Formats: sequence, structure tokens, C-alpha cells
Amino acid sequence: MAFAYRNGALCAEDIALEDIAARFGTPCYVYSARAIEAAYGELRDALQGRDALLCYSVKANSNLAVLALLAKRGAGFDIVSAGELERVVAAGGNMAKTLFSGVGKTQSEIELALRRGIGCLNLESEAELERVAHVARRLGRRAPVAFRVNPDVDARTHPYISTGLRESKFGVAHAEAERLYARAAGMREIAIAGIGCHIGSQLTEVAPFAEAAERLVELAERIEAHGVPLGHVDFGGGIGIRYGDETPAPVADFVAAALRALGGRKKKLILDPGRALVGNAGVLLTRIEHVKAGPARNFVVVDAGMNDLLRPALYGAWHDVRPVREAQHNEKSEVYDVVGPVCESADFLARDRRLAAREGELLAVMSAGAYGMVMSSNYNSRPRAAEVLVQGGEAHLVRRRETLAELFAAERIPE
Ligand code: LLP
Repeated sequence: MAFAYRNGALCAEDIALEDIAARFGTPCYVYSARAIEAAYGELRDALQGRDALLCYSVKANSNLAVLALLAKRGAGFDIVSAGELERVVAAGGNMAKTLFSGVGKTQSEIELALRRGIGCLNLESEAELERVAHVARRLGRRAPVAFRVNPDVDARTHPYISTGLRESKFGVAHAEAERLYARAAGMREIAIAGIGCHIGSQLTEVAPFAEAAERLVELAERIEAHGVPLGHVDFGGGIGIRYGDETPAPVADFVAAALRALGGRKKKLILDPGRALVGNAGVLLTRIEHVKAGPARNFVVVDAGMNDLLRPALYGAWHDVRPVREAQHNEKSEVYDVVGPVCESADFLARDRRLAAREGELLAVMSAGAYGMVMSSNYNSRPRAAEVLVQGGEAHLVRRRETLAELFAAERIPE
């Protein structure tokens, strides 16, 4: 376990979180390299002996140190912007193993991707096909593409992170795919690489994932029957993790479903997991500023807020909250809402938690490795937190805390 108590102190690998707080301050994201490697290794092992590529979804956690760690182990990447593309380059990632997804790629993003030698552009509309062909023609290059097909499968997850239904903005309609592939196949500047889908995030059941995979493979067969070969099938990401009391299906079951859908077909299998690789490899370390008893509820006011970790405010997401110093058996505990200093009622990290809370003590907000720091903001002019990567007995500052001066360094008062 990457985060566990030793002699009453919650540790990241071999380092006590209280030592990290003393050295780097709070709020602070702490990641375990070992946990990321273990999660990556588990997926890799499940795909052993297959022609397969894991494209880590950069949006989940885009710190260069995290990307470099995965790049070194041979991972590819799934990106959605020029910014993520440059991060992958800066971290030493392989562009040929990188996929560019997203519904709104701009001309300049497409150009950058082609110049950098992107592995595949995942197209989400016919207009995008035209745009990519146009840019490729101008550059005198051929663009490798795949369509992201919307399989119209209910991912049975939170509506904000469900993407595979007909009413979703993502992907092209299943019924349109054959025509679009025929059209793309007739374009000289387009090289068809494969086909993909992604039905949503934090999937805890395998069934919707398996259903989407089967539909996609069946569609791929039909497209190939028209003489358009598809080199890869990409079943997307979405593998869920345990935040609280949910019991997500094991990673190996998702992989087994993907392999079952593929059957004996000789195609490259691509998966683009984000959360499953980093979600439980990170915590948000925060210090208690005040313990405040209200007439109706009790609050623990901490130094991290919704600007640091948005998931509870945005999705009502659950994150376990653990004391960094384990509570003594006889210590008095109360039920608290753990809230931040931001001026919004939605600024909470957790609700109704039993804690023995004292001013100055540290708390760890668990499972914050995915969609934590990447979704942070400067709201209320709060500098962004520091990020620390632990490797065994070493703690590396992989992003220093923002300074107050940096908050408005890009701003100008007109003369
Ligand atoms: N591939 C595509 C095309 C995606 O859109 C996504 C995530 C992934 C892969 C990675 O999904 P994962 O394996 O991490 O579930 N902010 C939300 C999650 C948004 C996910 C967006 N797309 C959250 O905090 O739960």
C-alpha cells in the first residue's frame, strides 16, 4: 500500500506525510511513484503477449514527473490540447505512441500535432475530418486518423462524466461511421489508423464497457468489409477506482472484456486509462486552520479548498479523509464537514465525517491523484498548491508552490 500508517503516522511509501508538510508546506499534492508503477504494471501484465498500447490519459494528472515516469516504462499518451502535447514532448514521451482526442481541436493544434509526428488524431466529427485533411494538404503530409464512435451505451456513471450516449457531444454517431470511413478512405492526405470509443469515466461495472467494445468490433468488421483496413481498436479509458465504499471490477476484468471483444482478430488493442493509473496514487495534504462549531453543523476549516480539489463541489464526489497522525482510542471525535477557505458554500472537501480534529493538525484527502491538481484554479487569488513525488525514501518537489506575484504577473493596468 502506497499510503499506510506506520507507528501512528500516515506515510507515503517510506516517508511520513508530516515530514513532507514540514518541508514543502500545505496544501500539497503528494504522489507515490510506486503506486503509479504498480497500477501501470498491473494493466501491462494483463495485456502480456498482445499487440497492445496503453495511452495514459494526460488530463488525469499532467505533471511532467508523472508523465516521465510512464514514458520511461513505454506508455503512450492520450492528449486533448496543444498544452498536453507539449507536456508529453517535455517529459520525453513518444509522439508516435500519442493519440489526440477532443471535440474542438483548432487548426493550429492539428498543425502542431502533425509537425510533431502524432500517432493518431481521433476525429469527433465530419467537419473535423475536413479540417484535418485541409491542414495536412497545406503541410504536404498525410494525417493518421481514427474516428471516435459514440456507441450509444449507458456507462452508468455520473452524468457529467458519461460520454457514450446519443445525446453526448462526443464522437460520431454509430450509424454515420461507415459513411465517414468511406469518405476518409478516399482522401489522399488521410491515412486511416483505426477506430475508437470512450463511454465515460469512473466505470465500476464491466458490462457497459464490454458492450461498447463488442459494438465497436462489430462495426470495425463492417467497415473493413468495404475494403478499409483498421489497424487498431481503442476502447478508451474509464476504468473506475475505489474512492469510498464502491467496489469497482478489477482492472483485469476490463482487460479480459476488451480481449474477449477482439476475439482472435489481429489488431492492435489500445486503452487510454487515466484515473486507474494515478487516482489512488495521490493525496491532497492539508492543515486544519480552525475547528468551528456551528448551530446546525460542525466544520473543520482547512487550508485547501475547492480551487485545489474541485471534485466534491462539482460532482458531489466522495474522497476519504484521514488524519495524518492516527487518532488515539480515547480521543473525542465529532462529525464534521471538511471545508476550505473559499467564499462559496460549495467549497467543501468532505461532508459528515467523524474526526478527532484539532487546529494545526494535518489531514490527507485520499484518492486525489487523478483530476485533482489538473482541475485546480486560482479562484479567490489562491496560489496553486505544490506537488511532491515520493520514490521510496525520497520526496521530490515536482512542482513548487505558486507565488503571490505569479498570480497577476501576466496582468497589466492600462495607461
Ligand atoms: N479517453 C478519453 C477520450 C477521455 O475523454 C477520458 C476522460 C479518458 C480517456 C480517461 O478517462 P479515465 O480513465 O480517467 O476515466 N473530471 C472528471 C473525469 C473526466 C474524464 C474526462 N475524460 C472526474 O474528476 O471524475
